[in-house]
Amino acid sequence: KNWFAKNQELKGKRVLVTAGGTVERLDPVRYLTNDSSGKMGFAIAEAAANRGADVTLIAARTTADSVAGIRVIHVETAEEMLQAVLSRYEETDIVIKAAAVADYRPVVRAASKMKKNDGRLIIELERTTDILQTLGERKKGQFLVGFAAETEQVEHYAMDKLNRKNCDLVVANDVSKEGAGFNVDTNIVKVFGQEGLVEEMPLLQKREVADRLLTLIAQRITHPAK
Ligand code: CTP
Ligand code: CA
Repeated sequence: KNWFAKNQELKGKRVLVTAGGTVERLDPVRYLTNDSSGKMGFAIAEAAANRGADVTLIAARTTADSVAGIRVIHVETAEEMLQAVLSRYEETDIVIKAAAVADYRPVVRAASKMKKNDGRLIIELERTTDILQTLGERKKGQFLVGFAAETEQVEHYAMDKLNRKNCDLVVANDVSKEGAGFNVDTNIVKVFGQEGLVEEMPLLQKREVADRLLTLIAQRITHPAK
């Protein structure tokens, strides 16, 4: 394949990428979040744009550098990310959910800064909506790619997420391995499809992981199985 072909592979395709860690506030100055840097999602957005796709990136808290030529929409909470994704879902061809979305949020978000007391503080949390699962339920021809951050039984949990959330591909990373996952420039991933393991990648720069992932996606969109 020549350079031009690679650059045109996703021409005319609308791609939605989510990146970063969502932020769930307790009060005006305190919040719950996670170690996601957003680098994987930004690299994916860039790789998709390099192939000619029309890319929108929905970004929660991130330390990644912005990318030229990509529309970035900033959000804070899981709920805001859900709304931002859903409002664009119908006209989207490919969704890649690299964001680390909070599973829980505080039931109460205090309007003013919480004051300390003697003794313990118990914070009650409630479930957020699973964005990817919602997209899976409402799928009408979109190609859906999820991520799975695991520390054990990677294949088992990745396949479970793929089936439960109606994904076309799941990118699993064992975040207990050094050089994989949160807050580093590299990743070690296994990509699963409905048929099982599709590609096992060695330790690579996130940029390279993104490029290989987009190659897989482009192949599967132009030559669907069955
Ligand atoms: N995800 C999502 N909305 C949520 C939680 C997760 O869209 N509220 C997405 C993530 O963006 C990711 C995939 O679901 O693409 C898997 O996230 P992960 O945290 O690995 O799995 P969970 O389903 O949340 O299960 P658990 O955390 O219990 O392993
Ligand atoms: Ca989770």
